[in-house]
Amino acid sequence: MAAQRRAFDLLQQFQQAACRCPTHSHTYSRDIGHTGSGKTTDYAFEMAISNIRYGENVTQEVGMDLQNMGVKNVCVMTDKNLSQLPPVKAVLNSLVKNSMKFKMYDTVRVEPTDKSFKDATEFARKGGFDAFVAVGGGSVIDTCKAANLYSSSPESDFLDYINAPIGKGKTVNVTLKPLIAVPTTSGTGSETTGVAIFDFEDLKTKTGIASRLMKPTLGILDPLHTLHMPERVAANSGFDVLCHALESYTALPFNMRSPCPSNPNTRPTYQGSNPISDVWAKHALRIVAKYFKRTVRNPEDREARFSMHLASAFAGIGFGNAGVHLCHGMSYPISGLVKTYKAKDYKVDHPIVPHGLSVILTSPAVFTFTASMCPERHLEAAEILGADIRTVKVKDAGLVLADTLRKFMFDLNVEDGLHAVGYSKADIPDLVKGTLPQERVTKLSPRPHTEEDLTTLFEASMKIY
Ligand SMILES: NC(=O)c1ccc[n+]([C@@H]2O[C@H](COP(=O)([O-])OP(=O)(O)OC[C@H]3O[C@@H](n4cnc5c(N)ncnc54)[C@H](O)[C@@H]3O)[C@@H](O)[C@H]2O)c1
Ligand SMILES: [Zn+2]
Repeated sequence: MAAQRRAFDLLQQFQQAACRCPTHSHTYSRDIGHTGSGKTTDYAFEMAISNIRYGENVTQEVGMDLQNMGVKNVCVMTDKNLSQLPPVKAVLNSLVKNSMKFKMYDTVRVEPTDKSFKDATEFARKGGFDAFVAVGGGSVIDTCKAANLYSSSPESDFLDYINAPIGKGKTVNVTLKPLIAVPTTSGTGSETTGVAIFDFEDLKTKTGIASRLMKPTLGILDPLHTLHMPERVAANSGFDVLCHALESYTALPFNMRSPCPSNPNTRPTYQGSNPISDVWAKHALRIVAKYFKRTVRNPEDREARFSMHLASAFAGIGFGNAGVHLCHGMSYPISGLVKTYKAKDYKVDHPIVPHGLSVILTSPAVFTFTASMCPERHLEAAEILGADIRTVKVKDAGLVLADTLRKFMFDLNVEDGLHAVGYSKADIPDLVKGTLPQERVTKLSPRPHTEEDLTTLFEASMKIY
């Protein structure tokens, strides 16, 4: 109780800290453009556009797409559970109908690891495929992106493309094979992003590969596939959409991110919030506000399930260019250090803190912490999500957004904090250690932070309600 009190007091102090948002801070605005040290922040952003096709039953077109591309030999990837379900059957029917030669890799690991990425790559290398089709959630789509990359770049070492500082963060400049992604969850938006995330087992944290060249050639959004999602998969993947939208909308603005790339090739995939990503993020938030609870509570609510499928792609297009920040950066060790927790409705034989759950658990603490940098954005998000902000003071923006999120979580039966998924105070140093290498995302936090800040945020997330 005393620890919780201390964490709460510290969060209050963050909240009351002097506002350092660009509008209110002279210190911060001096950082834009050339600084005294000659360091330069970026002055441009780039939207990498995703090809998306949406429609009920549109999966039937995938065989024709491959034919149109002149493909001869296809690798279909999925996980064991999905291999028995209608989304995979729909893809295979279309391939057979269009006389497409294919082989199936159906052992994708749910929440993939470096080992499982390598196993899928081996399959891809041996098969000599000229195209890939990924049917599944983020785990399948990310695995397929990695297998495509490494089988197209046989000389590369695994670490070459892994984000620095864990890997070498080399720029991808090999030609990848076409990849069609058929998402079956409403969460990651991986069908729109150039990112593949995995759990680096030895380090017990997640990291990934990021390159615009890894974006799927086409995302086939067939909302019928979402009707099979079990309740907790719908809930956790929906919280992922919510955090993608919130984090990308509140991320450091693109023109405050440094360094400015010397070549457009090296402008990062995650560039900071920008006016175009903002549109996608806010629209996704509106859909979440209207349909998220309905989609979890009633799997037969087609309007809700279908709308959330689109929201996940919308948020994906937004964060795929703007990036995410602390909830995601802190989620990677939460997933990676899992001990014995087994998530309901996930048909897997290993302990797992599902990605969406791992990001939402820290969200009340994170947005309380970041609000002083751009309170108006935090308030706007809270309002979209249903909070009455008419009499709220700007300095309370973070607390209001945190309360709104807490209510969402409570209403959707989310576990009561990190403690409920198996962590105690003694784990906090390891959780902090696992967050430190996640610079690619954490540096997009609108508010600079220290190790002590991260410790406080984890502490404050041990219990939510
Ligand atoms: N690439 C990106 O941009 C990005 C973004 C966010 C998260 N991720 C990654 O994606 C992964 C999480 O993906 P996810 O949340 O989509 O879930 P998932 O792919 O891990 O699947 C979760 C479970 O749901 C089952 N499932 C999926 N669709 C189903 C359906 N329609 N019917 C019945 N069961 C179904 C799967 O078989 C699995 O057991 C994590 O590894 C995460 O790090 C990637
Ligand atoms: Zn995510």
